[in-house]
Amino acid sequence: MSETYDVLVVGSGAAGLALALKILELRPGAKVAVMAKNGLTEGNTMYAQGGIAAVLDDADTIESHITDTQIAGAGLCDHAMVKLVVESGRDAIQWLIGKGVDFDREGEDYHLTREGGHSHRRIIHSVDATGRAVQTTLADAIRASSAIVLDHHIAVDLIRPKMALDRKGPCQGIYALDRNTGRVMTIPARMVVLATGGASRVYLYSSNPDGSTGDGIAMAWRAGCRVANMEFSQFHPTCLYHPRAKSFLISEAVRGEGGRLLRPDGTRFMDEYDSRGELAPRDIVARAIDDVMKRLGCDCVYLDISHRPADFIAAHFPTIQSTCQQFGIDITKEPIPVVPAAHFTCGGVLSDKNGRTDVTNLYAIGEVACTGLHGANRLASNSLLECLVLGARAAQDIAANLDDAAMPRSLPHWDESWVTDSDEEVVVSHNWDEIRRFMWDYVGIVRSTKRLERAKHRLKLIFNEIHEYYGSFRVTGDLLELRNIATVADLIVRSALYRKESRGLHYTIDFPELDLIAPPQSTVLVPKNFSDHRVL
Ligand code: FAD
Ligand code: SIN
Repeated sequence: MSETYDVLVVGSGAAGLALALKILELRPGAKVAVMAKNGLTEGNTMYAQGGIAAVLDDADTIESHITDTQIAGAGLCDHAMVKLVVESGRDAIQWLIGKGVDFDREGEDYHLTREGGHSHRRIIHSVDATGRAVQTTLADAIRASSAIVLDHHIAVDLIRPKMALDRKGPCQGIYALDRNTGRVMTIPARMVVLATGGASRVYLYSSNPDGSTGDGIAMAWRAGCRVANMEFSQFHPTCLYHPRAKSFLISEAVRGEGGRLLRPDGTRFMDEYDSRGELAPRDIVARAIDDVMKRLGCDCVYLDISHRPADFIAAHFPTIQSTCQQFGIDITKEPIPVVPAAHFTCGGVLSDKNGRTDVTNLYAIGEVACTGLHGANRLASNSLLECLVLGARAAQDIAANLDDAAMPRSLPHWDESWVTDSDEEVVVSHNWDEIRRFMWDYVGIVRSTKRLERAKHRLKLIFNEIHEYYGSFRVTGDLLELRNIATVADLIVRSALYRKESRGLHYTIDFPELDLIAPPQSTVLVPKNFSDHRVL
């Protein structure tokens, strides 16, 4: 058993670090630990490019940002949540600037770029590597603080000891695999925060780094939390298409600054799909590209910014320019080959305006959560904003309630007495590949009921294998992630089958229209039975 923490933050991206730093501002003596399954800076935040949406220009308005968010969200945004997040934008940016994040300037003011679905320039950014600036600044601040950093620890499950009548009590800590020792530790905490990011690696092609396997969503589900809107997987329209490029995004800001989408023959096509052209919301652009690729049987389309001056491109997109250059593409002279890829998980653990979940003393913030901000499709650059705003709000809630949270006592230990080391790792790697491939083929940008049923069937078989494997062998990082992507895939498939219409990011050829009769509703899944912790 490790020492007991007041607050255990699982996740060290924008959401987790903002929350941890805020708690230490509000309760300087609190014992706070921040856990990361790889290095402290490795997660989606590090790779964010375009920037952070906030109303900072006098010509822009809060109402306009709210409206743009709701239009992208296709009728499923929670208006109160959108208003709250948008209204907090300026404070969130000021806080980051105060921490030392260096945003691009244009004269006296900050330079604001534009992205799809935004009716104004409102994306504050640090060239084309905003996430790196945010992640490294906050990570430096956390290292300089009193917080304990538990990097290379992968959370396995939440601990909710049984209470009278077999009901489960509040969250009292987690089990975590220490990747250095290979041992599973019991870590007690009065409050636990899931800030574990999204699940886009459940798809074969993704813009996300390796760890985006939906661990927090799967853990919360096993612990008894409701999960919402999982059918809304966002596909970013433009990831670099090159056999050697792994998960490299070409920011929407490239289209915001005039980039044009082209067929292989050089003709533009977006105007044929939407009057907003290249700056239509992401779901529309990704579907249009998918349609062009299927009609023409081509492997990719092209994104061309070469008509802008070379020094403008170098100043605004240095990371994209140098990465493309490594693959022999000079973006100042030629178009970039691009394809859509899974990018963002709009659904997640149902949580409220303070990040509270269904389980007492358990919070969920950032991409792992479903707060109602994004609805059926996230507006570009609203995610980092949500991480910062909800991180701050959850920190306030935790700081105010910490004294009432009981100290965990005598938690059940992790039991490895009947397991051995695996002698068949191939089962894990095979199932990993299989899930990601059929999720791409059957549960991707364009779905059908038949394809979803096929995926459901495959998942049932894979679950049996995982269950058997999990019960027999010592856990490894790969096995834990496999178990989690299988759970998340199942939640996505079930939610997609449940929605009998096409809305936002969920498009099915069997119900290609919006349901205009029933009022728009989120898909909320309720867990029936709780976890199978391996405990004494
Ligand atoms: P992350 O930053 O993903 O951090 C997750 C953390 O959880 C990591 O520390 C990880 O180690 C930890 N973790 C996960 N599972 C476990 C476990 N089992 N045990 C222990 N730790 C665990 N959004 C914008 O608003 N603007 C942009 O310009 C933008 N660009 C993007 C570009 C790319 C390429 C990508 C991939 C995303 C982009 N997004 C953008 C989305 C945005 O970056 C993410 O939604 C956001 O950073 C998520 O932050 P987070 O703190 O919730 O999670
Ligand atoms: C991008 O830069 O295109 C990503 C923006 C986002 O995902 O919000």
